[in-house]
Amino acid sequence: MARTLPGSRGGPAGGAPAAPARRGAVARPTALMSVPTEAMLRDAFAADVTEYLRRTPRQLPSKYFYDELGSSLFEAIGRLPWYRITRAESALLARHAREILRPLPHPVSLAELGCGSGEKLAILVSSAVDRFPLIQLVDVSPAALDTARYRLEALGVRASLAHRATYEDGLERAARHRPAGASLLVLFLGSNIGNFDPPMARDLLARIRRVLRRGDALLLGSDLVKPERELLLAYDDPLQVTAAFNRNLLRRINDELGGTFDLQGFAHRATWNAGARRVEMHLVSRLRQHVRIAAAGFELTFEPDETIWTESSYKYEPSQVLEEGLAAGFGRGEQWIDRSARFVLTRFSVPV
Ligand code: AVI
Repeated sequence: MARTLPGSRGGPAGGAPAAPARRGAVARPTALMSVPTEAMLRDAFAADVTEYLRRTPRQLPSKYFYDELGSSLFEAIGRLPWYRITRAESALLARHAREILRPLPHPVSLAELGCGSGEKLAILVSSAVDRFPLIQLVDVSPAALDTARYRLEALGVRASLAHRATYEDGLERAARHRPAGASLLVLFLGSNIGNFDPPMARDLLARIRRVLRRGDALLLGSDLVKPERELLLAYDDPLQVTAAFNRNLLRRINDELGGTFDLQGFAHRATWNAGARRVEMHLVSRLRQHVRIAAAGFELTFEPDETIWTESSYKYEPSQVLEEGLAAGFGRGEQWIDRSARFVLTRFSVPV
């Protein structure tokens, strides 16, 4: 049976900035128009939870991992010795920042989709702070956006715009707010592309390509296929941080939607699906149990060993990344590879 991906990282539509940032000003998301209310976001969460838990197999969209606690747990995962993506990518950015930026016509505006705390963005920016007339941040987590904005301010960045939005909405907004006369570099880092199933990944790359113009570029970070043992340690770490990250989804449903999940009643499981080349994360019911979700008006019973599929992380080969870029309408890509951690950064440029 063809299985669908339990949702990409990103989230229900967020608020759009009402006006582009002026040079020398930091646009505050609180001053923005058409921000969906918390009630709208909660209704969308309840509707998704109901829809995905009714599927066979049961699922939950991974985009809901990233509330304030979930974002902090993900930051902690990035520091675990067994999860090498964050460190490998940061090292590649630090080592090759100038080379990555070199072909882009000046000035360069940046937009990062799924910026998290902005740690990696800061590495690129600190290589040439004055080169960027505007930096745009896209994330579903307001807490992550705040951290990223303060990080940029501390570096001396004077103009930034924060979009609380999904990748797709944030991309459209970033394209609308690009400063006249500047090239645009879209950053899609951290192997966030891996949380999309292949057709959706291609679709997102094609969307990015469509908003780019001549001289613009996409910088894509992708985790590579590696030995199963390494992958399983990365997604089922001995400190159980990833288990907490996974179970936090149930805690979030309990807190925000009046759920009655017993967190101890679900075990964290990570498996490598070699055929599909993806790590899957699941929550496995330890016993027969009944759960109510008040805000969704939804009740369900889990049998022992019944699972909720919460995330897929697809792993690539460098050549496959280039092929996906080509299929999405990009031309040639330039790659920087960490052969030990097995991680690749690819710059897809739109020729001038
Ligand atoms: C955000 N994303 C790329 C991470 C990944 O590796 O798929 C999320 C994650 N899940 C478990 N650990 C980290």
